[in-house]
Amino acid sequence: ELECSLTGTWVNDLGSNMTIETVKGNGEFTGIYNTAVSVYPVKIKKSPLLGSQHLPDQLNQPTFGFTVNWSFSDSITVFTGQCFVDNDGKEVLKTMWLLRSHADERGDDWKATRVGYNKFKRLE
Ligand code: BTN
Repeated sequence: ELECSLTGTWVNDLGSNMTIETVKGNGEFTGIYNTAVSVYPVKIKKSPLLGSQHLPDQLNQPTFGFTVNWSFSDSITVFTGQCFVDNDGKEVLKTMWLLRSHADERGDDWKATRVGYNKFKRLE
């Protein structure tokens, strides 16, 4: 039986890790994100994440999204993705993200959003 649960600790291809707490009955969850990299040369701190997932379907490979409000910068990242079970029976989170940096003026808005892809594996 395929099982894909977001609860637990995950590590991505950049070496960042995150811990997702219990997923509530309505699909909402909270967690802590510890990024391995930063746009700015500042001391990285653990940051809160707030998300929501679809309730398990027949295959239990739900889509989800979450926001990270960086506690050490004035940026915000939103992630969206899906939990899959791969051929070895291992869970993998395939996500894309948008990182919004603070623009000091409206004229800088155009260069304030980065986009990317992250793949997360369960930390064992
Ligand atoms: C910042 O630099 O202002 C906050 C940290 C941003 C880290 C980004 S979010 C998308 C990508 N995936 C990660 O795990 N870290 C980077």
